[in-house]
Amino acid sequence: MKTIRKIGVMTSGGDAPGMNAAIRSVVRTCAYHELECIGIYRGFQGLIEGDFKSMDARSVNNIINKGGTILKSARSDEFRAREGRDTAFAKAKSAEIDALIIIGGDGSFNGAILFSEENNFPVIGIPGTIDNDIFGTSSTLGYDTACNTVVEAIDKIRDTASSHNRLFFVEVMGRDVGNIALNAGVGAGAEEILIPEENLGKERLIESLKRSRASGKSSSIVVVAEGDKTGENVFELKDYVEENLPEYEVRVSVLGHMQRGGSPSCWDRVLASRMGVKAVESLMEGKSNYMIGIRDSQMTLCPLDQAVKGKTKIDKELIRVSDIMTT
Ligand code: F6P
Repeated sequence: MKTIRKIGVMTSGGDAPGMNAAIRSVVRTCAYHELECIGIYRGFQGLIEGDFKSMDARSVNNIINKGGTILKSARSDEFRAREGRDTAFAKAKSAEIDALIIIGGDGSFNGAILFSEENNFPVIGIPGTIDNDIFGTSSTLGYDTACNTVVEAIDKIRDTASSHNRLFFVEVMGRDVGNIALNAGVGAGAEEILIPEENLGKERLIESLKRSRASGKSSSIVVVAEGDKTGENVFELKDYVEENLPEYEVRVSVLGHMQRGGSPSCWDRVLASRMGVKAVESLMEGKSNYMIGIRDSQMTLCPLDQAVKGKTKIDKELIRVSDIMTT
């Protein structure tokens, strides 16, 4: 087992609130254990180009509260090819980097697995994505903050919805999964939540909206996950409802990339701090090809290939809670 003296850290894929807090934690944990830490800019693309910067404990002052990532992020096409990965390995070797910590989503972990296998190079992943769609952890970095951002936005939209007796479709991110929609939808008291994991059909939506109106509600919020298949898209859903329920005045609000930005929540800052410590210390113990996760409040290790291949499941109990709350 090679002694780890120098660790490279990067952020890769879509940014997420809490990534800076994780970088800070990796850098400070390295300093604590007297290891060198190298920041790699723009993810794997920066590794290919040797875009490196030495980082000490003071270089990460005042970033725990910042959204985005000071190391920048990118999706690298060059790294998908063997040639690109070979160049990246040569750059890592010449900078005497012994191991990598990759903060990102499953696409980034796929690249990390290949790089590690081809070069027998130690890697550890930290799950950073607002989607919470990675197997092996109950929470990814940025998910909690994104849910809070969505709840805050819906609270504001509700003011208009109730002042004008309107129905709002609010589209939220999440790629192919409905975690943000379901969690934030319950948190914001949405009347309906449409997620890809459960296609209830447009007719049922109409029935539910009719019931809601009959029960005395004059305005409604329907949260729609971007990956939901109930309609072709959220605008088509709006047209459908307007045709079938002409008494409703309908509006659409697509929250978009605002969900990825902003200062991380306390939960995401603490999670990032814990994950960074665990990542560095796992490498020091000779571990490689694992992703750091959290389960039942404990830090865990999940083999990277399982993290990538495993399927996450939606919380069925939360669907039931949502149904009861909309009575
Ligand atoms: O994976 C994070 C995410 O924000 C998804 O929720 C969304 O589908 C996607 O990234 C958007 O990607 P881009 O920033 O490339 O448009």
